[in-house]
Amino acid sequence: MPTYAILGDLHLQFDEDDVEFFNNSDYDALLFVGDLAARMPESLFKLLPLFNALTKPSYLIPGNHDTTGVRALLGELWQNEFLIQLGAASQPARMERLKKELRHTTLCGYSLHGLPGGLNLVAARPFSMGSTNGTVNFRPYLERTYGVRTLAESSERLKSLIDGVHSPYIILAHHGPHGLGPKATDIWGADFLPQEVDFGDPDLADAISYAISIGKPPLAVIAGHMHYPTKHGKKPKQWYLYCDGVLYVNAARWPRIFLHNGRRYHHHIALETDGKTASVFACYVTAGVVHRITDALAILPD
Ligand SMILES: [Fe+2]
Repeated sequence: MPTYAILGDLHLQFDEDDVEFFNNSDYDALLFVGDLAARMPESLFKLLPLFNALTKPSYLIPGNHDTTGVRALLGELWQNEFLIQLGAASQPARMERLKKELRHTTLCGYSLHGLPGGLNLVAARPFSMGSTNGTVNFRPYLERTYGVRTLAESSERLKSLIDGVHSPYIILAHHGPHGLGPKATDIWGADFLPQEVDFGDPDLADAISYAISIGKPPLAVIAGHMHYPTKHGKKPKQWYLYCDGVLYVNAARWPRIFLHNGRRYHHHIALETDGKTASVFACYVTAGVVHRITDALAILPD
């Protein structure tokens, strides 16, 4: 049965111990949901020697911190078109550098991939950070690279990828779909706004609905971006759920490396599938030993 490791937002929390663990693991492939970088986009490149030391096939969809830049990020946060345009100028060069220096990891975004183990992968919209005003994030880069300017165009692009993929398949995104709950503790509910709101992406939700409507649902939809514990109150966030036969997984447990009861743990999620159903375990690795958790509201090892 193929098994895949899902790594949530790293924000630089990935080290030699992770490389050794994953290189010696039985995983068929490693799936990175993006946000390797910390605040400064250049910090992403610090992780590349570690990525280049991975011997497992690995796949990465860039997150909103990866190659985008501080000005563009602020532009997105404040919905300031001037900053979005100003910040966009430097992104293509950073993406080119990433493509050049990333030796074995497959960069994904609006793309199809065949994974080792027989599963197919649809990669959704890269650099997504969600919004409540109905726009795609980092539009200048998306338009230039993929010809996508709006959520409607993104949705059509995703639907055509679903038309082209063979089942069984999973979807890899940086940010999850709309429609799975507005509470801060819901899988992609906002925990940083004054009001509780479903912060998920509507284009991804639309594409998943389409996939279900044509009898071709994904086995799983994997993303991150909305960290847990929550920003306010440090509550657990539901990190997986099944809805209409689809498994949804938010891998963004952050910090992903942390001390607990005097031990240092590294987090990832294991996805197992027989091609018909899929299940997940949160894995907390300490000194080479894996503690597996299945409770969807548990965010610490036993
Ligand atoms: Fe993110």
